[in-house]
Amino acid sequence: MANKDPVRVGVLYSETGVTSTIGKSQLQGTLLAIDEINEAGGLDGRELVPVFYDAQSTPAVYARLAERLILEDKVNVILGCYMSSSRKAVLPLVEKWNKLLFYPTLYEGFEFSNNIIYTGAAPNQNSVQLAEFMTANFGSRVYLIGSDYIYPYESNRIMSELVLQRQNSEKVAERYVALDATEQDFDPIIDEIRNLQPDFIFSTVVGDSAACLYRAYADAGLDPRTMPIGSLTTSEAEVSQMGGAGIGHFTSAPYFQSINSETNLRCLERFRQRFGAHCVPNQCWEAAYFQTHVFANAFVRAGTDDPAQLVPKILGSELDAPQGRIRIDPTNHHTCLYPRIGVVNSKGQFTIVREATRAVHPDPYMVTHSMGDWAAELSTLEL
Ligand code: ACM
Repeated sequence: MANKDPVRVGVLYSETGVTSTIGKSQLQGTLLAIDEINEAGGLDGRELVPVFYDAQSTPAVYARLAERLILEDKVNVILGCYMSSSRKAVLPLVEKWNKLLFYPTLYEGFEFSNNIIYTGAAPNQNSVQLAEFMTANFGSRVYLIGSDYIYPYESNRIMSELVLQRQNSEKVAERYVALDATEQDFDPIIDEIRNLQPDFIFSTVVGDSAACLYRAYADAGLDPRTMPIGSLTTSEAEVSQMGGAGIGHFTSAPYFQSINSETNLRCLERFRQRFGAHCVPNQCWEAAYFQTHVFANAFVRAGTDDPAQLVPKILGSELDAPQGRIRIDPTNHHTCLYPRIGVVNSKGQFTIVREATRAVHPDPYMVTHSMGDWAAELSTLEL
């Protein structure tokens, strides 16, 4: 007789702590996909059951709960993590126990694990495009400001290398603030920016303090038309915390809520019916959503979530995601995605000003990237 036992999957995001706004959205994207999978008959008739823990935006808690999921709840697959420090905390555990982590967040690249599937953007899918866009439109003197942990350090290194390929370029300054920085903590940063007058600011500030940076910038009367902030992490979720201070600033990401495709619009409608109107879909929500379907499709093909049999079914698989048709690259476990640049508008959404018309292959070690990695351009920019 066919096995009808439920299948448990670990779900590890942060409902509390400094990255809880984005973490909640990742959880909701995951739960939406799980609902859809179960409504469509489950995994060959087996219900998919999330085992969720709140990792409190704290890497040590991620590690403890990942081990609990593996050893006590006996899951083979974990969907989770936002900050790279949390992925770095979970990585040795999924490797040690030979389990699988699906990681739905843009990150700094320069990593590979047989036990991770990376569904957010690698630097050749967001940093290269942002560097090109900002330097072409505003100039090549960059001020780097980030939260104090691994993703900002590494992402700033990559951005510096890209920008410094340009003529008349300069790294004006590179500063870090605590993950729980307040608006006051940004006052000296903003003073320095006003004095140094960079052409643009690259922000790798994550979580709640992102809103503090943009508010401090706006309160100081600085002008995004002449000295904008460009970011890879400021999504609709962070913008929703800023009360208008994000308007006119840029983000490079494979997904924005404003993508006008039927797949996206239908997904957003189902999402709002399930979770209400005040949720904030964003690039990490979308990756959390589509990677759950990637997992489910592979499970059905493998008949198991044993990583040894599941991973070969994941690699090379494709899916119509809200951003477009994605593919898991079989050589490096990252995902073919669609680079886009958006500018924050008065509705708290992103107006998409540039977009690739076909997926860009992930190149997490930045081996073959170059400036001008756009597959095609949507339109010329009108600011
Ligand atoms: C990040 O820490 N990967 C945003």
